[in-house]
This record gives sequence, C-alpha cells and structure tokens, in this order.
Amino acid sequence: MVESDQTGSAEDPAEIHVWDLPLRVFHWLLALTILGCWLTETLGVAWMQWHMRLGYLALGLVVFRIAWGFVGPTYARFSNFLVGPAAVWRYARSWLEGRPPAYAGHNPIAGWVIVLMLICVLVQATSGLFHTDDILTAGPMRAAVSTNLADDLGGVHATNADLLWILIGAHLLALLVHRLVAGERLVSGMLTGRKKGPFATGQAGISGSRLWMALALALSVTAAVWLILAFAPEPDLASFDFS
Ligand code: HEM
Ligand code: HEM
Repeated sequence: MVESDQTGSAEDPAEIHVWDLPLRVFHWLLALTILGCWLTETLGVAWMQWHMRLGYLALGLVVFRIAWGFVGPTYARFSNFLVGPAAVWRYARSWLEGRPPAYAGHNPIAGWVIVLMLICVLVQATSGLFHTDDILTAGPMRAAVSTNLADDLGGVHATNADLLWILIGAHLLALLVHRLVAGERLVSGMLTGRKKGPFATGQAGISGSRLWMALALALSVTAAVWLILAFAPEPDLASFDFS
C-alpha cells in the first residue's frame, strides 16, 4: 500500500498522499457531529431527539475508525502511529531542543492523544444510550439497566463530556503550535489528504484509499448500530423510578 516512487529532494520535497479519503470524511464528519451534539444539548429538551441521532452517528463513526485502524491504508493504521514510551520521549525532547522532525502520519504524541479521543467519543456515545434527563428523554438502552446503573452512566456521560472538550481543546492548540512553531500546515493536509515533507526516509505516500473496503465497513457498522436500536427495549418512561 506504500508507494516507493516518490520524487523530490531535501530542498524541494515531494508532496505525498497521506490521509485516505475515508479517514478525511470520518474526521470532518466527526468534528461536525460532536459540534452538533454539543449544540443540541445546549439548545435544550426540544432538540434531544437530534442529540441522540447525532450521538448514534458519532458511535458509528468511531467504531468505523477503530476498525479502519486495522484494515485501512498505512497512515490510518494504529501500528503506524502507536509507539512505545522511549519514542514518545525522544519526540518530546526534540521539541525542547527546538528541532522536531516532521512525520508524514501522526507524530508519536498525537498518536496517543488520538487514541484517547477515540476512546472518549466511544465512552460518550455508549453511555448516552443509557442516559435519561428524568423528564422527557431517555436513551434507547435505558430500560435495559437498573435505575442506579443508569444514574451512574448518566454521570459518566456528563463527566466524560468535560474530558472530551479538554482533549478537543488540546487537539486544536497542538495544531496551532505546529503551525506557529514548526511551520507545519497540518490542517490543509487533513483537507486535501496530501502533505509536503521533508519526512524521514521510508515515509512514502499511499497508493489508494481502499474505497470498497471502506464502503463495506461503513455498511457493516451502519447495520450494527441499526441492530442495537432495533433490538433496544421499548422506552417506557412512565415505569422509571425517577425518585
Ligand atoms: C459523542 C456523542 C455525544 C456527546 C458529545 C454528548 C454530549 C452530551 C452532554 C455534554 C450532555 C449534558 C450532560 C449532562 O449534564 O447530563 C448530554 C446529555 C444527554 N445525552 Fe448526550 N452526548 C452524546 C451522545 C449521546 C447519545 C448517543 C445519546 C442517546 C442515544 C445521548 C443522550 C443524552 C441524554 C438523554 C442526555 C440528558 C439530557 C439532560 O439531562 O438534559 N447522548 N450529552
Ligand atoms: C470536535 C472537533 C474535533 C474532533 C473530535 C477531532 C478529532 C480528530 C481525530 C480523532 C483525529 C485523528 C484522525 C485519524 O487518524 O483518524 C484528528 C486529526 C486531525 N484533526 Fe481533528 N478533530 C476535531 C476538530 C478539528 C478541527 C476544527 C481541525 C482544524 C482546524 C482539525 C484538524 C485535524 C488535523 C489537521 C488532524 C491531523 C493531525 C496530524 O497531522 O497528525 N480537527 N482529529
């Protein structure tokens, strides 16, 4: 999946294809979806049905991305960007020394932050399925658990959201630091899929986006989320013990 015919020199490095199309679509849809979840929650009870719908989309997107981390092209793979503590430390030190190397894919720190973000979105969307506002809205799996467990998961939904905002803030701050300190234009890379080096040797561009694989995966994930919703217990708000 990695091309070996990249051209370019140290003075004029080649621009290479790094982020496949499914990964980019995933990224921007996820960002819009999370923004939508926040907005609908802020707008209040009239928007809760949309909050839940967007939550299902977030769940599907994150499950898709986790699977894509195993079957997607090179730079989408967890094995490409999850490295051990020694490599993370070496990378952190390179910033302190003022000469951080550019990575074609995610750098060693970003890689772990991204995994944290994915886990955080997964926990947020899953806990939402069991959450209720104790008035009008209940997640589709609320009736599957006891009131105590639903309360605990509601607490997770509220606290984890704060962690998610912190991680998103750190994500955006990191992009700004990369732009201002290292001169890296990472945002345009996530828009076009292409990045310009110089990167370390061995980091060549991908040759395709594996679109059929992505389509099959997206359909499977949609079916799985649909099945969860189809087999969720009937919401019966009247029978809940809201005391
Ligand atoms: C990643 C996606 C999601 C995000 C970012 C998100 C975010 C939030 C936030 C910040 C709150 C307010 C926390 C509180 O004070 O209780 C909330 C409440 C809630 N969410 Fe989500 N949520 C997501 C997914 C879901 C899903 C999938 C469902 C259910 C299908 C859901 C159902 C609810 C319910 C029922 C409430 C309670 C509203 C209230 O107490 O007024 N959420 N969500
Ligand atoms: C709710 C908001 C956002 C969330 C949850 C989010 C989440 C993520 C995730 C999970 C990744 C990893 C991509 C992957 O490997 O699949 C990522 C990467 C990236 N995001 Fe975001 N993102 C958000 C907003 C933004 C915004 C507003 C921008 C641009 C201004 C942005 C720019 C980028 C870039 C450039 C990368 C690639 C970083 C690199 O080159 O290593 N993100 N984001």
